[in-house]
Amino acid sequence: MDRIRIVGGNPLNGLIPVSGAKNAALPLMIASLLTAETLTLENVPRLADVSQLMRILGNHGVDYRIEGKRIGDAPYAGQTIQFHAADIVDTTAPYELVSRLRASFWVIAPLLARMGEAKVSLPGGCAIGTRPVDLLLMVLEKLGAEIEIDSGYVLAKARRGLRGGEIDFAKVTVGGTHTALMAASLAHGSTLIKNAAREPEVVDLADCLVKMGAKIKGAGTSRIEIEGVGSLQGARHTVLPDRIEAGTYACAVAMTGGDVLLEGATEALLPVALDVLRQTGARIEETPKGLRVSRNGGAINPVDITTAPFPGFPTDLQAQFMALMTRAEGTSRITETIFENRFMHVQELARLGARIRLEGDAAIVEGRPVLKGAPVMATDLRASVSLVIAALAAEGETLVHRVYHLDRGFERLEEKLVACGADVERLREAG
Ligand code: EPZ
Repeated sequence: MDRIRIVGGNPLNGLIPVSGAKNAALPLMIASLLTAETLTLENVPRLADVSQLMRILGNHGVDYRIEGKRIGDAPYAGQTIQFHAADIVDTTAPYELVSRLRASFWVIAPLLARMGEAKVSLPGGCAIGTRPVDLLLMVLEKLGAEIEIDSGYVLAKARRGLRGGEIDFAKVTVGGTHTALMAASLAHGSTLIKNAAREPEVVDLADCLVKMGAKIKGAGTSRIEIEGVGSLQGARHTVLPDRIEAGTYACAVAMTGGDVLLEGATEALLPVALDVLRQTGARIEETPKGLRVSRNGGAINPVDITTAPFPGFPTDLQAQFMALMTRAEGTSRITETIFENRFMHVQELARLGARIRLEGDAAIVEGRPVLKGAPVMATDLRASVSLVIAALAAEGETLVHRVYHLDRGFERLEEKLVACGADVERLREAG
């Protein structure tokens, strides 16, 4: 397996182009199942999760074609991919495919809405918590589906089609809101979603569905109204920039010092996280090309953070900010409210010399002036990149194992860091 070798100590200076958002691209790709016409997505990031979802969609009968580079395209431009689900030949999403990518469970909504049935493997546990699907199944039931669970599979049926209904989420759920948007767009009648997720990726999906002919009002607020339509058409849509990737590199600059333009990032995508980063001592300026993040000398101030649904502090940046706090001048408290087990990075950060103790759903981080390189590995994507951030400021060499986690969600990570002066190298497994 590949590893990444990092020698810490260099500041980051230069430009990092922000890729298309993984967590927007995945539901947008799944939405291609809703129409027999072509859905063309621009700015799709080159990530392992995207390739895996293409395999899953292919199994249902979706053809895809990656468009070649066009005149004027930047060397790092995202891919343009056409998805064409003329005929859905298989409504089953098997365990072997779904277990490797949790978001693929969301295919259940378009399959059911378009074909009247779907059989999708339960996604199972994962490294950040139990992550149940009860709220997603509640959505489908509220829209008239019959749900049965048998031998690890969810069997959903709506022979006469889905019908609109009222969905009131007991807990804010991104995947639940995606599921409701896709299913209700092709249901008979109107649907009201209360306590909907307000994440930018939900808005991106709703925008694309509207281009496909869906009637959706209120995306981006906690109350969304959908009037079902008989069929959806093809469309062309550009995936929004990855706010978590942008926030991750912003954290890295705050950690190492330096001055980096995060091309394509905007303040609106990261409201609370950027305020927190400013409190740590970083300077952030919005420019027409993106966000300019810098920290030149000066201490890293400790901050207290509590994760929350958008527009709150994102759970997907919790590990990265914890890495930054390991070098703060003082103690920080980081509380995780979204996932119950998202502290797997704590023991690995400790290998680099961090002082962190867990108190229930909170991590207490005592900042230290020096971290020291060590071999580390992590069990999920954001945890892995938090180790990269810590390693960039650690003395000596860090070897990050299990790089496939990073490849799931960070496009050309080492290339982007090297371009800004970091000493980072991928050590490829021979053969
Ligand atoms: C999305 O996951 C993201 N994944 C996650 O990013 C992100 O951490 C999460 O939203 C929260 O922002 C993608 O977009 C592909 P949820 P999702 O449903 O939709 C509970 C990353 O690193 N819940 O909003 O699966 C759940 O357990 C990933 O890129 C239920 O109880 O998350 C959690 O506590 C990791 N029952 C809370 O809701 C359900 O049926 C929010 O989860 C569904 C969820």
